[in-house]
Amino acid sequence: MTTLFPVNRFKELRTPFYYYNISVLKKTIELLKEETDKSGFKVHYAIKANANPVLLKIISSYGLGADCVSWNEIERALSCGFRSDGIVFAGVGKSDYEIENALKADILCFNAESLQELIVINEIAGKLGKTARIALRINPNIEAHTHKHITTAIDDSKFGIIIPELDEALNLISGAKHLQLIGIHFHIGSQITRMQVFKNLCARINELTEWFSSRNVSLKIINVGGGLGIDYHEPDILPAFREYFSVFREMLRLYPGQELHFEPGRAIVGQCGTLISKVLFTKNGGNTKFAVIDAGMTDLIRPALYQAYHKIENLTSNGEKTHYDVVGPICESSDTFGKYVELPETKRGDIIAIRSAGAYGESMASRYNLRDLPPAVFSED
Ligand code: LLP
Repeated sequence: MTTLFPVNRFKELRTPFYYYNISVLKKTIELLKEETDKSGFKVHYAIKANANPVLLKIISSYGLGADCVSWNEIERALSCGFRSDGIVFAGVGKSDYEIENALKADILCFNAESLQELIVINEIAGKLGKTARIALRINPNIEAHTHKHITTAIDDSKFGIIIPELDEALNLISGAKHLQLIGIHFHIGSQITRMQVFKNLCARINELTEWFSSRNVSLKIINVGGGLGIDYHEPDILPAFREYFSVFREMLRLYPGQELHFEPGRAIVGQCGTLISKVLFTKNGGNTKFAVIDAGMTDLIRPALYQAYHKIENLTSNGEKTHYDVVGPICESSDTFGKYVELPETKRGDIIAIRSAGAYGESMASRYNLRDLPPAVFSED
């Protein structure tokens, strides 16, 4: 797979902007479906990774469901063609109006993250004369071996219900008139590249489903969340879907009638997006050469927030290779996309591509410094 960029078109456009290669997105989804359809796995795309309506309409056209973490995401998903019965709603802090709206929209289920949330959902469902379908989000206490900011399932993480509270959760649900337990849910972190982590998750889930079964609780849905990482060093390589799904196919013991659900975000949209920027100035530091570009951490915060690596390419120079710190215009030292990046001799006006930026790029953009939000440009418009 090679991603060719329409550089002449880029030269005409005001930078920075996100460029989405639609054929890469489609190839990614087709590869994913090849692996999931044959096993009957259900996929809910994690909207938070990228909520751009053009991309969402393409993703929903493949029949995927949606994983949402706010009412606004649910509304966006519905308006972009996702079916309400394919929408799951996670989040440690769902507001009352969000619960109410989600109940009215008749979504597939709430991934409930605390005992108190169960009580509140039951109350609100009661007032509306509805029954809320619930999957318990369980904190399985598994180390994800990824950046600490995107690790979600170790002890003392704010996400999910801890295993010692499951008994109480079951009691609560069996006494609640307006709750129906349909499954369990997990999400242990993001940008996970070691398959062993998912194997550990499978082993823990097997113990837990046995525990539920010993209490005569039948679970229709086992939702293992998202988290599959992508190769940021090789932006033209698609995610390791085959390896990932085969871990679950081989290791997870499903009971008859049980469905396996997934919530990938990054793996679906990561490689189709690139942040396109222009070099404003080059300058020298003491021992450093800087390329100051017009994109900043407001457009793509991942390097500043998680020290994340994104491959940086100069699309308009074939000069001799040298090294630059590639920095943005924001008044923060962390506004740096890469240090000592090897690039061809770079000059004002050169076009810079920051690769693998389709996930958590546009969706995390901010207006700090009163900058404009980055627009989106598509390969097939
Ligand atoms: N399901 C739940 C409940 C989640 O919280 C997330 C992501 C996903 C699914 C999708 O995970 P994925 O397949 O994309 O790894 N902003 C960070 C990533 C935060 C992920 C938050 N939760 C980043 O830029 O790396």
